[in-house]
Amino acid sequence: MLRTLPVLSFLLSTLHGSIAQNTSTLPDVLDAETIASLGNNSLFTRWRPISHFSAPAGWMNDPCGMMYDPTGDEYHLMYQWHPNHIDWGNISWGHATSKDLITWTDVGGWEGNDAESLVTGPVGSYNGLGIFSGTAQPVNLQGEQDGTLLAFYTSVSKLPTNWRIPYQNGTETQSLAISKDGGRTWQEYENNPVISHPPEGWNITGWRDPFFEPWPEMDSILGQSEPHWYAVFGSGIKGVGPRIPFYSAPANDLTNWTFLGALWEPSDNETLGDILETSTYAFNFEVSNFFSLVDEDGDVHYYTLFGAEGGNTTFHPRAAAGLWNEGIVTRRANGSAQFTPVAGGAIDSGLLYAVTSFNDTKNNRRVQWGWAVDELNQFVTQQGFNGAFALPREMYAKKTRGLINANGGLTTKGNNRVVEHSDGTYTAYTLAARPLPEVVSGIRNGTTQRNYRSAADLPVSSPRILGNGSDHMEIKATFRNVTGPAGLTIARSPGGEEYTTIYWDPSNYTINVDRSHSSTIDNIALNYTVVGYFYPYTFAKTGMEDIVMNVFIDGSLVELYINDRFWLTTRIYPGRTDSTGFGIYVDGSNSTHAEVPEFISWVGTANVFPERPLNSSSQLVFDTAEQTNNYTWWSGR
Ligand SMILES: *[C@@H]1O[C@H](CO)[C@@H](O)[C@H](O)[C@H]1NC(C)=O
Ligand SMILES: *[C@@H]1O[C@H](CO)[C@@H](O)[C@H](O)[C@H]1NC(C)=O
Ligand SMILES: *[C@@H]1O[C@H](CO)[C@@H](O)[C@H](O)[C@H]1NC(C)=O
Ligand SMILES: *[C@@H]1O[C@H](CO)[C@@H](O)[C@H](O)[C@H]1NC(C)=O
Ligand SMILES: *[C@@H]1O[C@H](CO)[C@@H](O)[C@H](O)[C@H]1NC(C)=O
Ligand SMILES: *[C@@H]1O[C@H](CO)[C@@H](O)[C@H](O)[C@H]1NC(C)=O
Ligand SMILES: *[C@@H]1O[C@H](CO)[C@@H](O)[C@H](O)[C@H]1NC(C)=O
Ligand SMILES: *[C@@H]1O[C@H](CO)[C@@H](O)[C@H](O)[C@H]1NC(C)=O
Ligand SMILES: *[C@@H]1O[C@H](CO)[C@@H](O)[C@H](O)[C@H]1NC(C)=O
Ligand SMILES: *[C@@H]1O[C@H](CO)[C@@H](O)[C@H](O)[C@H]1NC(C)=O
Ligand SMILES: *[C@@H]1O[C@H](CO)[C@@H](O)[C@H](O)[C@H]1NC(C)=O
Ligand SMILES: *[C@@H]1O[C@H](CO)[C@@H](O)[C@H](O)[C@H]1NC(C)=O
Repeated sequence: MLRTLPVLSFLLSTLHGSIAQNTSTLPDVLDAETIASLGNNSLFTRWRPISHFSAPAGWMNDPCGMMYDPTGDEYHLMYQWHPNHIDWGNISWGHATSKDLITWTDVGGWEGNDAESLVTGPVGSYNGLGIFSGTAQPVNLQGEQDGTLLAFYTSVSKLPTNWRIPYQNGTETQSLAISKDGGRTWQEYENNPVISHPPEGWNITGWRDPFFEPWPEMDSILGQSEPHWYAVFGSGIKGVGPRIPFYSAPANDLTNWTFLGALWEPSDNETLGDILETSTYAFNFEVSNFFSLVDEDGDVHYYTLFGAEGGNTTFHPRAAAGLWNEGIVTRRANGSAQFTPVAGGAIDSGLLYAVTSFNDTKNNRRVQWGWAVDELNQFVTQQGFNGAFALPREMYAKKTRGLINANGGLTTKGNNRVVEHSDGTYTAYTLAARPLPEVVSGIRNGTTQRNYRSAADLPVSSPRILGNGSDHMEIKATFRNVTGPAGLTIARSPGGEEYTTIYWDPSNYTINVDRSHSSTIDNIALNYTVVGYFYPYTFAKTGMEDIVMNVFIDGSLVELYINDRFWLTTRIYPGRTDSTGFGIYVDGSNSTHAEVPEFISWVGTANVFPERPLNSSSQLVFDTAEQTNNYTWWSGR
């Protein structure tokens, strides 16, 4: 995440005497003046996602420590957390567990700070100012599965830190924490930190978020005779370029990490391809992943995920972008691995960031989570929390045969790695991801499902509203023979005062989420149109593929999936409780038409924290000057 510079907050006084209010007394139509008069937490349930993972209250950011523990037969998911604040600070790990990845239980309970797992040590110690992100594995320090859980995280002893400012030597080190009771309590490893210095000679922009795994394929590539574990971090070299430093440790000693080298050497803000399609590598990487996936033919593909900080904001106004790359991996002369990118793009074209993954060993699949910050411009204290995770997504290496290079879009350096055949067709490889099928079924439990067959018969040539749902719902709609901008209208009020449109524009292969009318509340939230690149496949035999839009609306959170190859997460904050209408959007101004052979809605998606009350707010507490060294570590609001 962005570790912002400290700013003395003007809002400190608004946090005094915070008292949770009964949200049921809120008017159905909110305006800015009314909200400004409300106390802390009074909007807690108004736009709160319930079908997505979130902290009980307060600020959360990156997913951390996801793993399947075979001993307890349960999944763990932790997160960067500042329990009693709506802003980042004193960052620690919160923790929840699940038997099925559908419903979750706060470890220690949902109240106050009870769900904290790893917490900062005394100020002045190696982890006194922050437990930054990291990952976890169900093994002991010798790499054995004996019920022990092992977390690898970045310990922070100096602040502030940000890629734009001078790096204070010693800010970040890398540390281990151990749990002997299935994650209920954690102990710091006695010889922390286990990596005390960044790579020799690197004038770093940052150096954090260890991602570590056993990796037999990498042992073979590097010619290791003994099994090793591998780790990557997010980093960068000032004035040179972002970096993913690569480390290994003998499989029987996960305290002994050796720096091997950087995976590749991009220059500052270099791009793989066109900025709209691939974004830029920017200046600093965060939350990096490096893993392999096997395609349907048994061929191994190597991928990185990373958050790129400081990139070009022309199409992606957020200065932090979550990206993926596929690369060719070879052994370097010095024994390290060389990653040469061959394809890549946005891992989410909206706001999802710090996208990380783990090997779900129970199901042998790679599962991804990412962080969706709130986009409120104001009134965050009234909301009382900030952040949620997108649905867990299974990533896989997708191979598609029999394609033609329609308009040249298949062979651009970007989303697809292609092989051309003698008959003029292409095979394309890309990174695909879909929400975990059992999680989708799980949150559909209890919904009202409706199939709108009426939409299927005719080409639609003007917008039509099909139904009324709720602010916790899913839509799946298939578009065919689209001749102009077409897609969905969601979150529409009966009088049309508020609505959000999601459409594909075939003229430039863009997906657009127009939020300019998403809320009648003045300046409530960011309202720019979110834009991403989606180039549909065209088959030599059957023409262009259908465009299947799958949207999950959950409070303010809107998550869009298209054909397992496009993902966009964004936020809307409608002012009215009746803004739940939905339907088909076509740009009526340009004789656009579209066939919509399938349109299904599921209304009333499930709550994934059944043991928490819907209002799990905590009293907001701002830190004292003493706790924050006069707000030089964080703004303390
Ligand atoms: C940072 O600290 C380490 C050890 O504490 C030292 O070896 C290194 O020279 C320092 N680097 C700078 C730039 O001061
Ligand atoms: C590190 O980079 C900063 C910013 O570019 C520069 O001012 C500083 O001199 C560099 N330090 C070293 C040791 O190269
Ligand atoms: C750490 O691992 C390296 C090989 O990766 C090995 O050469 C070295 O002896 C190990 N150090 C210790 C203290 O075991
Ligand atoms: C990279 O950054 C430099 C300095 O900010 C800027 O001049 C240049 O246009 C950028 N290039 C791209 C492709 O964004
Ligand atoms: C960002 O990218 C756009 C489109 O390629 C380009 O026009 C613009 O100059 C870039 N901005 C910067 C700051 O480099
Ligand atoms: C998960 O780990 C197992 C070894 O424990 C390995 O065989 C498998 O290939 C991995 N799966 C993925 C999807 O990475
Ligand atoms: C659906 O939810 C109900 C509780 O609302 C639960 O009893 C039932 O087991 C769930 N069914 C499935 C398939 O998850
Ligand atoms: C409208 O249609 C024309 C002709 O097909 C096309 O050039 C133009 O890009 C379209 N405009 C939009 C907004 O789709
Ligand atoms: C795509 O084309 C439309 C016109 O159809 C235009 O309004 C929009 O700005 C274009 N998007 C991008 C990212 O170029
Ligand atoms: C969008 O937000 C900006 C402020 O960020 C505001 O000036 C503008 O009026 C908003 N647009 C609409 C349509 O509300
Ligand atoms: C719709 O698309 C299909 C295949 O993509 C094509 O066969 C059919 O002719 C198209 N129909 C119209 C009305 O364009
Ligand atoms: C904070 O600043 C005030 C006024 O400058 C000073 O009196 C106080 O000692 C400072 N406190 C700390 C903890 O540095």
